[in-house]
Amino acid sequence: MADKQGIEEQAQEAQAPGGVTMEKIVSLCKRRGLIFPSSEIYGGLGSTWDYGPLGVELKNNVKRAWWRTVVYERDDMEGLDAAILMHPRVWEASGHVESFTDPLVDCKECKKRFRADHLTTARCPECNGELTEARQFNLMFRTHVGPVEDSASVVYMRPETAQGIFVNFENVRESMRRKLPFGMAQIGKAFRNEITPGNFTFRTREFEQMEIEYFVKPGEDEKWYDYWVQERFGWYQRFGIRAENLRLRPHSKDELAHYARACVDVEYLFPMGWSELEGIANRTDYDLRRHGEFSKKDLTYFDEEEKRRYLPYVIEPSAGADRATLAFLVDAYREDVVAGRERVYLALHTALAPIKAAVMPLLRNRPEVVEMARNLHKSLRRRWKTIYNDTAGIGRLYRRQDEVGTPFCITVDVQSLEDGQVTVRSRDTTAQDRIALDQVERYLTERLESQ
Ligand code: GAP
Repeated sequence: MADKQGIEEQAQEAQAPGGVTMEKIVSLCKRRGLIFPSSEIYGGLGSTWDYGPLGVELKNNVKRAWWRTVVYERDDMEGLDAAILMHPRVWEASGHVESFTDPLVDCKECKKRFRADHLTTARCPECNGELTEARQFNLMFRTHVGPVEDSASVVYMRPETAQGIFVNFENVRESMRRKLPFGMAQIGKAFRNEITPGNFTFRTREFEQMEIEYFVKPGEDEKWYDYWVQERFGWYQRFGIRAENLRLRPHSKDELAHYARACVDVEYLFPMGWSELEGIANRTDYDLRRHGEFSKKDLTYFDEEEKRRYLPYVIEPSAGADRATLAFLVDAYREDVVAGRERVYLALHTALAPIKAAVMPLLRNRPEVVEMARNLHKSLRRRWKTIYNDTAGIGRLYRRQDEVGTPFCITVDVQSLEDGQVTVRSRDTTAQDRIALDQVERYLTERLESQ
């Protein structure tokens, strides 16, 4: 249940898109303020990362694109933001206390610890020492509420956001007057004490999920499962991931989580190989049934047409905001040669780009040019994340913006003072359009908001 890592990170003769390596991505992210190692001045905390000024914009844009697609563009979805700390009985009912585990073995000689299901030999891979029997290690982080640290005060940091949705099923159905089928969407942090985190932000102990629980009439679950698989597969392409770098991988029976009747992973061709981006599962009525039993509350649904009560089935598309952000970054990474010089650029979808436009005066020693550029920036920043920059020559400024995926650079020059026009340069083609100052907003609106 806990993790399908052994399968998802197999190299499988994988060719990362455009030959991009994780080192290049990590280096770009550090250099350009996207993602930093957490607590770096103290030497960092293994596999934890902080999103910098441009990283937080990018990840927010990914979350916004998801929310817009699954909540605003639909009539059958409600949003939710449940607490991270929940009643401990939630995790007994959900099966996490019992089953959210990985099997671990220790080496009796060198004392190193390994995932039993990852070992290919019966002895320690480091020193060939004898290994202990496997024991189950629960991945949930535990903490205490209140001042007394005893067993009665134990709570867990949620390992998935899903349970916040299940326990609010009745609240939302009732308050929003919902009939089946309908869904609930939530974005939030989840925590897992992963044994082997790694591959940059791909697997960390603190991460963000973007989860949907879609409640349907039993018997209609397979139809809705197929629907959501296609819907979610298409979403990554809609926001720019190339189709050849995505695939669907159905789970085999022995791989299924304890709650799932069927599950398929949307996989992306990361630099380390095909790996899970999102899982879409048919959770049946498992969660509502268990919460009904444990809480002694009636979570059945009254079907007015059929005049009978039943427990809804649930289809769950469960994505990771950090993994999606990483996949969008990797897929957007490009190297080419412009005017005889190599450049790196991020061909991010305009909806995801951290900065939408950069305004630059061509001559920073001409106050009228600077003023015109500053005023243009002031008017644009009311609507979009834009920047004003005059700290270097234009060639260098273009390259800096290309590297962080800014779709448009707008330059104001001496000619602009006479003809009231500015130059808009496009990131991907480097083509330039000369347009009237008062048309810039319309020009950007057409190109930034037509997704
Ligand atoms: N509610 C179902 C569930 O949590 P999961 O496959 O364990 O299913 C769903 O997780 C998604 O959450 C994954 O596809 C991945 O994108 C993200 N995710 C899970 N564990 C993660 C981790 N340790 N680091 C980053 N993202 C993770």
